Amino acid sequence: MEQAKGRIPKIWSSLVGWLDERFPVTETWEYHLSKYYAPKNHNFWYLMGWLATFVLVNQLLTGIWLTMSYIPSGEGAFASVEYIMRDVEFGWLLRYLHSTGASAFFIIVYLHMFRGLMYGSYRKPRELLWLIGMAIYLVLMAEGFFGYLLPWGNMSYWGAQVIVSLFGAIPFVGPDLMEWIRGDFLMSEITLNRFFALHVVALPLLLVALVFVHFVALHHVGSTAPDGVDIKKHKDASGKPLDGIPFWPYSVTHDVHATVVFLFIFCAVVFFAPEMGGYFLEKPNFEMANPLKTPEHIAPVWYYTPFYAMLRAATYPLFGVPAKFWGLVVMAAAIVIPALLPWLDRSPVASMRCKGLASKSMLGVFVLSFLVLGYLGITPPSPWATALAQLCTVLYFAYFMLMPWYTQVEKTTPPPERIAPR
Ligand code: HEM
Repeated sequence: MEQAKGRIPKIWSSLVGWLDERFPVTETWEYHLSKYYAPKNHNFWYLMGWLATFVLVNQLLTGIWLTMSYIPSGEGAFASVEYIMRDVEFGWLLRYLHSTGASAFFIIVYLHMFRGLMYGSYRKPRELLWLIGMAIYLVLMAEGFFGYLLPWGNMSYWGAQVIVSLFGAIPFVGPDLMEWIRGDFLMSEITLNRFFALHVVALPLLLVALVFVHFVALHHVGSTAPDGVDIKKHKDASGKPLDGIPFWPYSVTHDVHATVVFLFIFCAVVFFAPEMGGYFLEKPNFEMANPLKTPEHIAPVWYYTPFYAMLRAATYPLFGVPAKFWGLVVMAAAIVIPALLPWLDRSPVASMRCKGLASKSMLGVFVLSFLVLGYLGITPPSPWATALAQLCTVLYFAYFMLMPWYTQVEKTTPPPERIAPR
């Protein structure tokens, strides 16, 4: 028995040694885990990156299994989803894990991005890390959009129809572009096929590649600390950051805890409210796509609604170009403008804890306008809703456009030199 105990570590170390000579196993483990130091005061907001990774894996796995029974054709798509729900063993669970996973992904990514705004995660030297994150966000939005057409329900059909037809408002090239995206004169099986290819193959590959690059960039520059302390500044004689903890096993333990709590909430939704009152799976989507029957009120899924509200808020034609085109411009600008944050923020400090009242208030205004816009995007249009959406659109952009000014004039406090012991 004793002998066997001694033999196992020996076999293990010779196996690792064999691998190390051919592939940097130990080096990778140490660089990314056991010798990667994270600030020791990381809080709730720093759990979102791991949870996003967890949900990404959930989406990939459940997606693969759904694809095994899904048929990407005009005749088969809706029926195959019904078949998955009723006849495939645990098919209902796979589908709900995937559809609830999509909403969870966006909730987590929005919280992850909000952390960035709070703690200045986009600032030097993390500009590229932020831009890679923005690329992930854009791909994620496209991935959700293409995936939404696949059940071939009536809202899938009309939602995609509305978004694709927006491109028709672009002067000169619009109508041709619209036809090129659809691959047909109207939304058809051809459109479904190409959306399927993009959703199942092209974009997941791109997403995984981008997430990999995101990790490489993160581990090159290191994480921020919530109070703005740079843990690389104070190291012990062996070069270990005094205010940091090794990612393995300490941060991993936090992440595992977070996963358990997340799974409680996630499973409660999957098992008890997978449709979430029509917000995660919309009612018209329980009817097959019907080009002759428009749903009473067409709205995208909740995670796009802040931008959809901004699109609808543009009601005036300008320079002879219809309002629809300007709506598209406003919507696109609202989605990409966070990419400019590293250059808009001129504050001497990174963390919101050290910034002044102006930054704090503007962040509050930004969050509030985003939430109100999200609500307005779900509700049917009305004159008061349009006026409110216009006001919130102005406030949304004000947060970004006025940032170079208010981050310079406000009073800030210097960040602490070291992380305070708890
Ligand atoms: C699939 C989506 C994503 C995954 C899996 C992911 C994963 C991660 C992980 C594991 C971390 C380290 C842990 C943490 O700080 O939370 C991280 C940090 C970071 N992520 Fe992401 N991320 C995603 C999307 C995004 C997006 C959309 C953005 C911004 C537009 C972004 C920007 C950042 C930044 C700036 C950091 C460093 C934060 C800091 O140290 O303050 N990420 N990400």
